[in-house]
Amino acid sequence: KRQRLERIGGDVLSRTKGYGKLILMGEHFVVYKVPALVGAVSCYTDCDAVFTDKPGLEVIDERPAVPNYKVTKKDEADVAIGLVLKHFGIDTTKERGLKLTFGGDLCCASGIGASAAQVVAMARALSIALPKAMTEDEINAAGYEGEKGYHGTPSGIDNTAATFGGVLKFQRTDGDPIFTKKKVSEPIRIVYASTGITSSTTKVVGDVKAKKEADPAWFDDLLKKYVALVEKGEKAIDAGDITELGKLLNENHTLCQELTVSCKELDDLVTAAREAGAVGAKMSGTGRGGLMLALTPTAEIQDKVAAALEKLAPQVWKTTFA
Ligand code: MEV
Repeated sequence: KRQRLERIGGDVLSRTKGYGKLILMGEHFVVYKVPALVGAVSCYTDCDAVFTDKPGLEVIDERPAVPNYKVTKKDEADVAIGLVLKHFGIDTTKERGLKLTFGGDLCCASGIGASAAQVVAMARALSIALPKAMTEDEINAAGYEGEKGYHGTPSGIDNTAATFGGVLKFQRTDGDPIFTKKKVSEPIRIVYASTGITSSTTKVVGDVKAKKEADPAWFDDLLKKYVALVEKGEKAIDAGDITELGKLLNENHTLCQELTVSCKELDDLVTAAREAGAVGAKMSGTGRGGLMLALTPTAEIQDKVAAALEKLAPQVWKTTFA
């Protein structure tokens, strides 16, 4: 890490940040073009890209991660990196080779948007190394190409949060996604915890699609209920009403259960967080493993909920959305 910093300078590396994210409302539903609410966490992945004289691609992955995450995701990550290279028109088999080193303080776990943070950091690093001037929208678009390596029909919510940070209302459309940055009056305190289970977004998103196709009426009913919830969720954020937001997160978790994307491990953590004083708790991200989050209005409640979750979960983190 020190070598990297000395060679390229911390300043350059800090320009390659891709943030992790937590979905507040709307995982899976967002794939079907309804709005979702997402908050970027302050932890990020960064990337150092160096062109070499000899052809070949070398990838060094120094990102912290929960056990098994990197092994389980290796193939998908390789595809994602290949897709970003293709998007940039870089062929490492011909003249120049490329060495990519990923690092940063984002602990990779299923649900935190680590894949999107990685491809966004890579796009930023390539734009510096080539060099090629790129707008934030172009970085986001390159990240979206990479996300296709992790799942076939990404909504784009993860790469958008990774690129822009902050709390966002995001909606996939037939064209470019629509997103707006939300003004948050008070920082939103969150505790999030990993089940320790790494799930495949491709597989879970595919399962939901199959269920939707098998029973469209059932899915439409859930989708309608969700849309009513997220409208209230946005209003609660705008009003800084954390108690109301918590209630809505709980209801969103119930919809995730009905969608069959939650699991016992997630449900147990959600229950424990609520019992320890969280105003709301839900699974976050792909589900069937991965992460859950809890909304904790004060630092004291945040500590209490984190302590309760530490008894059950292999990894627990505290963060704030601002
Ligand atoms: C993954 O973080 C969120 C999902 O809704 C998939 C997506 O939006 O692409 C499960």
